Amino acid sequence: MAKKSDGYLSARESRRISKENRKITNAYEKQRKRKNVPESEYLTQMRDPNNAVEFDDLHTYFFTDNGVVHSVDGVTFEVPIGKTVGVVGESGCGKSVTSLSLMQLLQRPQGQIVQGAIRLNLGGKAYDVTKTPNEVMKDLRGNYVSMIFQEPMTALNPVFRIGEQLNEVIELHDKENKTEAQVKARTIELLKLVGIANSEGVYKMYPHELSGGMRQRVVIAMALACNPKIIIADEPTTALDVTIQAQILDLLRQLKSKLNSSIMFITHDLGVIAEMADYVVVMYAGRIVEKGTAEDIFLHPAHPYTIGLMASKPVVGKQVDELYSIPGKVPNPVNMPDYCYFRDRCEMCVEQCCGDYPHEISLSDTHKVSCYRYDGKGGTTNG
Ligand SMILES: Nc1ncnc2c1ncn2[C@@H]1O[C@H](COP(=O)(O)OP(=O)(O)OP(=O)(O)O)[C@@H](O)[C@H]1O
Ligand code: SF4
Ligand SMILES: [Mg+2]
Repeated sequence: MAKKSDGYLSARESRRISKENRKITNAYEKQRKRKNVPESEYLTQMRDPNNAVEFDDLHTYFFTDNGVVHSVDGVTFEVPIGKTVGVVGESGCGKSVTSLSLMQLLQRPQGQIVQGAIRLNLGGKAYDVTKTPNEVMKDLRGNYVSMIFQEPMTALNPVFRIGEQLNEVIELHDKENKTEAQVKARTIELLKLVGIANSEGVYKMYPHELSGGMRQRVVIAMALACNPKIIIADEPTTALDVTIQAQILDLLRQLKSKLNSSIMFITHDLGVIAEMADYVVVMYAGRIVEKGTAEDIFLHPAHPYTIGLMASKPVVGKQVDELYSIPGKVPNPVNMPDYCYFRDRCEMCVEQCCGDYPHEISLSDTHKVSCYRYDGKGGTTNG
């Protein structure tokens, strides 16, 4: 890409990119907006019926005027039924874009899934979300997959009472033609389920009358309104202080065992992952660098980035002068290098690291890592 020496694009170059982008995104949009698409085009088979979701080589790009941002660049992992998968990585590594791809809530037309599959297991049927048209997706969202957002104040409408907002969600997804009284009863039931004692009182309140923790409980109640099979929690406790955070995590754990839902838990906080997750996926610059069970990742971290993350986590009772911080910064997502994305920050390089991006290596049935340090050390190479 022709860039000026100061790193900025000329207006002409930017216009050319923008025109090219429009051509590409228009083609994607046309495909997605089609009506009466036959089911055979988007129904699929799960690779393993015990999985609720399977991400398979997902590529999600943003076609911006500065170039194509490779936000998610070949991500493969699964969320087993009834389990919590923690997705961890520093800001900008593609955690939210991965989950928004599953919900088909990417900012469009710039944001598009350009390659790969996301298989969603709904018991009788499995859908490939990447091929599912908008009109079908509307039905899947909320009914089967729902999302708890980071900032509860933005998820709630400040001018409506809590009860009205929850009622609306229930009515929107209602398949049983509930009466007004039945809808209200369900709202009250949900408020109780998320641990709100004064549910009748909260029903009549406005969001600003509630504390941050209470608001987040309401947002969780909203996400649970239709008993979703998959709950995506994107940094659900980041805006809360630590005591409230502990209560909300406790609540999510209780709800998970009560509803047998699967949870995809996104955070940059390893402490939270340790408390919540059965499996952990570590992302770096749009790719997965390591994944495994929580035990694999916490007891035997293998990738230098994961090891760095562990070292930068404060440990109670351990005295250190200064917490470790990983040097350097993430590469520019418009212009990714053709070697290991972590190489410029890595303090554990080996000879092979000057080669192409490393393949995924199996350290065990569950534990996978993409790093040359493990090449030929008893692991098996995948792909
Ligand atoms: N609407 C958008 N337009 C252009 N680029 C975007 C857009 N949304 C996300 N991106 C880019 O995609 C990359 C991944 O972003 P994402 O929001 O998934 O990061 P994240 O891992 O969720 O970070 P955080 O921890 O800060 O929430 C970033 O480089 C970001 O700049
Ligand atoms: S492949 Fe090399 S540069 Fe990349 S993380 Fe592993 S050791 Fe570091
Ligand atoms: Mg995010």
